[in-house]
Amino acid sequence: METGREGFVKFSQGVNVLLSPVNTMKRMIARLQRPTLPVFGYSTNKNRIVHVDSLQDQELQQLNQLLDWNCFVVDNRGRRFGNGAWKGKRIEPQEIPDRRIVLLHERFDLSDKHVLEVGCFEGIHTVGLSMFAQKVTAIDSRIENVVKTIVRCAMFGYNPVVFKHDVEEHSAGTRIPDVDVIHHVGVLYHLRDPVTHLIELGRHCRLGMMLDTHYCRDEEARDEYEVSGKTYRYKTYRESGYRDVFSGMYDHAKWLRLADIRTLLSQAGFKKVDVVEDRQERNGPRLLLFAERR
Ligand SMILES: C[S@@+](CC[C@H](N)C(=O)[O-])C[C@H]1O[C@@H](n2cnc3c(N)ncnc32)[C@H](O)[C@@H]1O
Repeated sequence: METGREGFVKFSQGVNVLLSPVNTMKRMIARLQRPTLPVFGYSTNKNRIVHVDSLQDQELQQLNQLLDWNCFVVDNRGRRFGNGAWKGKRIEPQEIPDRRIVLLHERFDLSDKHVLEVGCFEGIHTVGLSMFAQKVTAIDSRIENVVKTIVRCAMFGYNPVVFKHDVEEHSAGTRIPDVDVIHHVGVLYHLRDPVTHLIELGRHCRLGMMLDTHYCRDEEARDEYEVSGKTYRYKTYRESGYRDVFSGMYDHAKWLRLADIRTLLSQAGFKKVDVVEDRQERNGPRLLLFAERR
């Protein structure tokens, strides 16, 4: 049951309600400006991409136009595979493997592990995980992200299991598999019920999880909701809708407090939690943590 956001009772809550649609509209307008990026001449973050390196320039350009890519990597010949999202967003070549995946491998030795990636977007992390793990299963709530992930991975010569699954859609016909390790980056702060999600996810994980997420500071947690008789305070974050491929699936997300994230992980069976980074980003505080069962 949601008890916060009951109109304009508190001034701070009222301001929050009034500004949110304006900010959402600004965000949507910014996102209409597609970047114009060069196709050739990149010298950083080059990758050997087995089925792209061999393409003719014109075929690669066709591949880039076939799907509505929102991030890109660079092949061995310095050419762009994919596209930027909008002005200022993902306009640099993405690094594979992402530095956090290297940390995940150092912690859990992925070589004989099955890894679940939650919210795979366009498959950049899926490729990185496939380089280290025995098996990778990747899920995302948007079918277009699923398709782009499959194509991206196939071009790199990897074949992870990828399917559409909304982690908040409880009647979903698909099921989360039981895995050894979970990669959970950039998704928790897009969920409208992160509490239930964390508790349920724990059941599918044998060893541990890497979680990278925004959270809210105590003084920002002005709203509250109840799950299984316990009340959680949170900050409301307006989401940008289904068509924004980075976004959550619903109108808002709930940003939890760090103390609650720790408690929930413990409740989910992760007895050891190491917060290895706590950084301030443009949208708010963000952490990187490793949670382990032992
Ligand atoms: C901000 S992006 C992060 C992508 C990627 N993990 C990264 O760090 O670059 C959030 C991703 O989570 C997906 N997503 C959002 N809500 C989801 C949900 N309820 N279930 C599964 N995936 C979701 C989005 O479609 C998007 O691909």
